[in-house]
Amino acid sequence: MTDTSLNLAASQILNALANNELRPVVRTFFDQATFTASHVVHDPSTKSAAIIDSVLDYYPASGRTSFSSAQNIVSYVKENDLHVEWQLETHAHADHLSAAPWLQEQLGGKLGIGAQIITVQEVFGKIFNADTRFARDGSQFDKLFHDGDQFRIGNLNVTVLHVPGHTPADMAFVIGDAAFIGDTLFMPDYGTARADFPGGNATTLFRSIRRLLSLPGKTRVFLCHDYKAEGRDQFAWETTIEAERAHNIHVHDGITEENFVKMRTNRDATLNLPTLIMPSVQVNIRGGHMPEPDDNGTSYIKIPVNKL
Ligand SMILES: [Fe+2]
Repeated sequence: MTDTSLNLAASQILNALANNELRPVVRTFFDQATFTASHVVHDPSTKSAAIIDSVLDYYPASGRTSFSSAQNIVSYVKENDLHVEWQLETHAHADHLSAAPWLQEQLGGKLGIGAQIITVQEVFGKIFNADTRFARDGSQFDKLFHDGDQFRIGNLNVTVLHVPGHTPADMAFVIGDAAFIGDTLFMPDYGTARADFPGGNATTLFRSIRRLLSLPGKTRVFLCHDYKAEGRDQFAWETTIEAERAHNIHVHDGITEENFVKMRTNRDATLNLPTLIMPSVQVNIRGGHMPEPDDNGTSYIKIPVNKL
C-alpha cells in the first residue's frame, strides 16, 4: 500500500537536507515543572515562524496561572524579529496547559491542531460533564489539520502527519527536514509515550511510530517531553530517525508490534496520572481557554471523583 502523505513528507525532508535554505532554525524552551519542550521554528530567509506546544504556568494548589515561561518565548521572538504565523499543538496535552491564546494576543498566529480533537472533546466533554456552552466541533481552533495537509511557513514546506495512539488527535508537523512528533517517541534511551489515556491505544501508537521511523534517517526529530533516562543528567529533546531506529529502547528495529503492545500495556499500568491532567485537559480541549465562567464570572476547574 502506498502512503502518499508519508512520501510527501519524505521527499520534502530529502529536499531540505540537500538545500540549507529549506531547513528551519529551531530554538527550544524547556519547562522543568512539566518536562515539556516548546519549540520556536523559523525560516531564516523570511523570519516567518511557528510556536509549537507552548506552556502556561499553572499552580495547582492556588489555581493561579502565570506567563513567565511564555514570556521567554515572546522575548526571543521579539529579539529575533520573527513573524509568528502559527501556534501549533501536536495534541491536547494532559500534563501542561497551553499558552497559545495568550501568545496569540502577544504575537499573533493562527492556532492549529489535529482534526481528531473533535473526538477528544467528545470523550472529555462527557468525563467532565461540560454543559452545552462547550462546543465539541473544534471551533476553538483556527485550523484543524488532516493527514497529508501541506502548507508553508515563509519558504519552508510543511507536511502534517496524523500519528494517533497516545491520543486520537496526535499530529506530527514535518517542517523542512525537522519533524516535531509530539508524544509518540521520546529520546532513544527513554522510549515512547504512554497509550492509556481515554482514547489512547498501544497498537495504534506502534503503527504511528513505525510510520515515523520510515522517514529518512537524517530527519531531525524534536520531542515534546524529556524525563532524563537513568544515567543521563541533562535534558534532551532532539534526535534523529536513524538514532531512534537503532537505539530506541521500546521500538528499535526488530521489535514486533506484539512485544511493543505487551511492554507498553504493562508499563502504563504502573504509571500515575500526570499531576496537571485535570486542569490541562479541561483547558486544552478549549484551545487553551479557561472553562466558561460560572454566573459569578469565575472559571472553575472540575475534578471528577473516582472517574479517571
Ligand atoms: Fe501528551
